[in-house]
Amino acid sequence: MSTYSCLIILALFTIFTISWRAQAVGVNWGTMASHPLPPPKVVKLLKSNNINKVKLFDTNSDVLQALSGTNIVVTVGIPNTMLRSLNSSKKAAGSWVHDNVTRYFSNGGAGVRIEYVAVGDEPFLQSYGEQFHPYVIGAAANIQSALARAKLDSNVKVVVPCSFDSFQSESSLPSKAHFRPDLNKTMIELLTFLNKHGSPFFVTLSPYVTLLQNKNISLDFSLFKETARPHNDSHRTYKNSFELCFDTVVTALSTAGFPDMDVIVANIGWPTDGGANATSYLAETFMKGLMNHLHSNLGTPLRPKHPPLETYILSLLDEDQRNIASGNFERHWGLFTFDGQAKYHVDLGQGSKSLVNAQNVEYLSSRWCVVNNNKDLSNATASALEACSNADCTALSAGGSCFNITWPSNISYAFNSYYQQHDQQAESCDFGGLGLITTVDPSMDHCRFPIELRTSGSESYTIYNFYWITFLVATLLAFLRDFA
Ligand SMILES: *[C@@H]1O[C@H](CO)[C@@H](O)[C@H](O)[C@H]1NC(C)=O
Ligand SMILES: *[C@@H]1O[C@H](CO)[C@@H](O)[C@H](O)[C@H]1NC(C)=O
Ligand SMILES: *[C@@H]1O[C@H](CO)[C@@H](O)[C@H](O)[C@H]1NC(C)=O
Ligand SMILES: *[C@@H]1O[C@H](CO)[C@@H](O)[C@H](O)[C@H]1NC(C)=O
Ligand SMILES: *[C@@H]1O[C@H](CO)[C@@H](O)[C@H](O)[C@H]1NC(C)=O
Ligand SMILES: *[C@@H]1O[C@H](CO)[C@@H](O)[C@H](O)[C@H]1NC(C)=O
Ligand SMILES: *[C@@H]1O[C@H](CO)[C@@H](O)[C@H](O)[C@H]1NC(C)=O
Ligand SMILES: *[C@@H]1O[C@H](CO)[C@@H](O)[C@H](O)[C@H]1NC(C)=O
Ligand SMILES: *[C@@H]1O[C@H](CO)[C@@H](O)[C@H](O)[C@H]1NC(C)=O
Repeated sequence: MSTYSCLIILALFTIFTISWRAQAVGVNWGTMASHPLPPPKVVKLLKSNNINKVKLFDTNSDVLQALSGTNIVVTVGIPNTMLRSLNSSKKAAGSWVHDNVTRYFSNGGAGVRIEYVAVGDEPFLQSYGEQFHPYVIGAAANIQSALARAKLDSNVKVVVPCSFDSFQSESSLPSKAHFRPDLNKTMIELLTFLNKHGSPFFVTLSPYVTLLQNKNISLDFSLFKETARPHNDSHRTYKNSFELCFDTVVTALSTAGFPDMDVIVANIGWPTDGGANATSYLAETFMKGLMNHLHSNLGTPLRPKHPPLETYILSLLDEDQRNIASGNFERHWGLFTFDGQAKYHVDLGQGSKSLVNAQNVEYLSSRWCVVNNNKDLSNATASALEACSNADCTALSAGGSCFNITWPSNISYAFNSYYQQHDQQAESCDFGGLGLITTVDPSMDHCRFPIELRTSGSESYTIYNFYWITFLVATLLAFLRDFA
């Protein structure tokens, strides 16, 4: 072979590897935040970090608008609450596709590059019971035929994200895995549907929750440490929790009769607050281990050389209103804090080892709400608990970054969170006279008292708009009166 052809092959190989790496890792972009970072800033954040795949949980129009014309490949989501109506009405499915896919879709150019529609958000999560089971396949089928009618079905695939608790296995051995018995029938229907339309299987893997729930799994094993004690499954050796979780899915698919189904990891991450071992340092170790594993292209014992088709990190940003039914860590999955600042650095395949922060972020004023130490604080704890039922106090929980701050600083933390979530309105720092607004940052070493983001709905904007509308109406009325 000539040097030239060698070079060409090398060049092609390099291009292929680079594009494979760039394609394979995406992020989840959720918007369950009281003060979300404005979508155009999030899109800039994605671009400056070369992240070119995102998975959404809904079809927020500001988000889709911001993604238009960017070449970022998008998965849009249908909330579980819509499954019932989408199962029973082909017309509803047609409208959904028209309003939320056709209107934005493009294959490059001005629109949004929509690749998947995720029907439901982990509708089989065990804590939901069976409430969504009867509607999932019908809703997926109706969306599929609506896409076909819109002639989009060759570009847009229908998928159903499955939770990590859809599986069971004896002694956590992957070779003994199967779907949860209550899901057996629905899963066969789902897999038959996916297989028929050439759609992949979307699944959440959660080494973090596995660590919390399974005493046999060590932290080192979860973090891809070379020194971790491996788990043996007859003649197969598992060196980390990721491989164990992935092959659990592979066996369940095989047992159900679909051994060749492509798997996409729809959610995987490590939280940084609100739980045991939820720290930025451990999250960084996990992410680096995960990225090395994915980039090595080794696959797993049951699928050697076949790593997941794609992997979506949970999550891009922290969200202070995510449901915390499964744990206080749920609000702290972000690679970035709520305001788009990197918590640590990792090479997502973007060709750079460090992440780039969001730029020109606008905050509310430098004001905090704390407890007034000159008052009788005997009832302050009750006020704080009430504040916490609305605000975000997850950092105060066991394992959280503010867990060890002393009373009454923890009361101040709760008051401040409530005050920030209410756009620093003076009356939201009242607490029966116990609250005090301060311009001195009460943050401590490890415990940050955040200031929320300025959003179009917050603070002076609302008042400003209100005054303008009043002014315009008054002017118009005056004009009409003069005219008459
Ligand atoms: C789902 O939709 C189909 C078709 O309209 C209907 O026959 C079925 O009863 C629906 N399922 C449930 C559980 O309502
Ligand atoms: C489009 O999606 C949004 C958000 O998910 C939803 O509120 C709306 O009802 C959908 N449109 C239709 C016609 O279903
Ligand atoms: C833990 O390991 C032991 C011995 O290997 C096994 O018998 C047990 O079932 C395992 N427990 C879980 C929850 O996996
Ligand atoms: C697992 O298997 C490896 C090699 O097959 C062996 O060296 C090791 O002792 C086994 N570990 C356990 C805990 O059985
Ligand atoms: C259904 O559940 C049983 C356990 O109850 C399991 O043994 C079987 O393999 C499951 N079937 C499928 C197709 O997953
Ligand atoms: C992980 O969490 C456990 C349980 O809270 C704790 O004992 C251990 O010290 C933690 N390890 C690290 C490295 O944070
Ligand atoms: C604390 O609450 C109780 C019951 O609501 C009330 O009677 C008492 O006066 C309060 N104490 C202070 C110091 O506000
Ligand atoms: C709280 O814990 C952190 C380590 O997690 C430590 O650095 C800090 O000094 C502790 N603060 C107090 C007040 O004990
Ligand atoms: C603050 O700390 C005190 C004393 O440790 C505790 O009783 C109280 O429940 C804490 N309040 C909150 C909101 O965490």
